[in-house]
Amino acid sequence: MTVTEQNVPELSAAGLRLAYDGRVVVDDLDLTVPPGKVTVIVGANACGKSTLLRALARLLSPRAGRVLLDGRALSSIPTRALARRLGILPQSPVAPEGLTVGELVGQGRSPHQTWWRQWSADDERAVARALECTGMTDLAGRAVDELSGGQRQRAWIAMAVAQETPVLLLDEPTTYLDLAHQVDVLDLVVDLNRDEGRTVLMVLHDLNQACRYADHIVAMKAGRVVARGAPREVVTAALVADVFGLECEIVPDPVSGTPLVIPIGRHHRAPGAPA
Ligand SMILES: Nc1ncnc2c1ncn2[C@@H]1O[C@H](COP(=O)(O)OP(=O)(O)O)[C@@H](O)[C@H]1O
Ligand SMILES: [Mg+2]
Repeated sequence: MTVTEQNVPELSAAGLRLAYDGRVVVDDLDLTVPPGKVTVIVGANACGKSTLLRALARLLSPRAGRVLLDGRALSSIPTRALARRLGILPQSPVAPEGLTVGELVGQGRSPHQTWWRQWSADDERAVARALECTGMTDLAGRAVDELSGGQRQRAWIAMAVAQETPVLLLDEPTTYLDLAHQVDVLDLVVDLNRDEGRTVLMVLHDLNQACRYADHIVAMKAGRVVARGAPREVVTAALVADVFGLECEIVPDPVSGTPLVIPIGRHHRAPGAPA
């Protein structure tokens, strides 16, 4: 395969070790985020997904190994240049008290501004569009800290959209959202990927949504990558048992054909099925 602009990874990590104080949470991790695709990280609680995402956005420095963005060490990229290339929605972002939705989303434009070019028509357009596609236009004047959990989550997503970065990292973007809004947000993420070619890396809790929306799945367990690839190849009953300690059956999703994980649990085994 010839290497073109299209398949040169923008974001990759090699030999990554991440720790808090003395405790190593992620170790010897290699990751290549396929450019122009949607990659979803799955794994049990506390396996290091958010820690990894934060390191990929330089919110946490590695103890060993390195992260490369556009072929450069992440550590060598000036902050504003980084913020024009890569946006992150952390797991539990907190907005300053009283900040309005419009102001929050406007902050997504600050990496694009300079002392000689402050707020521009481009910024105005980007903010209006981000509010529109997240359904937040009518709430633009409201304070972020007075919104419901789901509205607040959409305000943050709008900020990340307004930043217009080629690489977008999202840590559980569907938290707090009802099912209809979960689907809206995931559809929006796919639009950003398909229509604008953005590379997306997100953490999702719901394996079935991960299977539907990911081109590429990365399964983590105890700070390491245990499987990666297309959902149909990666998400098997054996993987779910290994990663989540959950016995399940996998059937094709009747809508998308992707793997649909049916957990068994202790109370619902089919009569006559082997224990
Ligand atoms: N700021 C922190 N300080 C110390 N330990 C942390 C911090 N953040 C996360 N951890 C620990 O690191 C491990 C991985 O956490 P995290 O990356 O948030 O997991 P996940 O996102 O997969 O649920 C957990 O054991 C967690 O308690
Ligand atoms: Mg997390």
